[in-house]
Amino acid sequence: MTDSSVASLTAAASDSPVRARIWDLPTRVFHWALSAAVIGLIATGLGGVMEWHFRLGYSVLALLLFRLLWGFVGGRWSRFASFFYSPGSILAYLRGRAHPDHVIGHTPLGGLSVFALLAVLAVQVGTGLVADDEVSAAGPLTRFVSSQVVSLATGWHASQGKTLVIALVSLHVLAVLFYVLVKRHRLVRPMVSGDKLITPAGASSRVVAPSRDDAASRGLALVLFAVCAGVAYWIASLRV
Ligand code: HEM
Ligand code: HEM
Repeated sequence: MTDSSVASLTAAASDSPVRARIWDLPTRVFHWALSAAVIGLIATGLGGVMEWHFRLGYSVLALLLFRLLWGFVGGRWSRFASFFYSPGSILAYLRGRAHPDHVIGHTPLGGLSVFALLAVLAVQVGTGLVADDEVSAAGPLTRFVSSQVVSLATGWHASQGKTLVIALVSLHVLAVLFYVLVKRHRLVRPMVSGDKLITPAGASSRVVAPSRDDAASRGLALVLFAVCAGVAYWIASLRV
């Protein structure tokens, strides 16, 4: 669905729900690739399979760089501005009085958890790049920083960072399961198909602007991802 569908959604402003593209294809591919890679990173990190740990680490680096750019130029509901809420909106959501427009994409609480997940993963990748297990595995950027930074980063990566990533990912999956099984919100299917069923009359503006998700926006995502993969490849090539 493209922006041009907005008009038809407005026209259909009634209580009957309409299907709207919320998660564009690049965001969905990003999500499932990130999930698989992070699960692989935890497994290979704990299991000491370091060659694969590094490969998956560079993939997550490329994915996070892409998500950073997509947060500014991606589909409407994938942009950071669409889920960067004020403390007042977060409080209103917690009290069950959320603005109707705030429960279409990431909710105020969901938005917070997305920023937290992305930040914790970014720090884990950053510390991994300068980590050194002093046996056989050293990140590609260790030789550019002091030994003090290497030991601090390695310590964080292998203890607090590891624990935080595992805790936040577990919390994320448990929260999704809670909303799906207890609150009966359909969350997972939209992360697969991209579409949500929205009641336009419920939204304040009576207009549900969908995310752009056409050939041009997908092409742009591909170009941006290629650039991010190139940067990650270059960083990987600095390993001696
Ligand atoms: C290591 C595993 C995972 C990581 C790191 C992860 C990370 C993320 C991130 C970063 C987002 C925000 C998407 C964006 O706007 O870019 C997100 C959203 C989401 N994830 Fe995951 N995820 C993981 C596993 C899963 C699994 C297993 C499920 C399904 C059970 C799931 C279901 C969802 C759903 C439904 C959303 C959208 C939530 C909403 O509607 O606000 N995730 N996840
Ligand atoms: C989200 C991304 C990442 C996650 C979740 C992750 C997770 C882990 C885990 C669980 C360990 C094992 C710690 C232990 O119990 O000993 C580990 C170790 C390690 N990781 Fe990562 N990692 C990530 C990214 C990276 C990256 C990008 C690199 C480098 C390119 C890297 C390099 C290392 C190194 C060198 C160790 C060994 C540290 C030591 O044992 O002293 N990691 N990582």
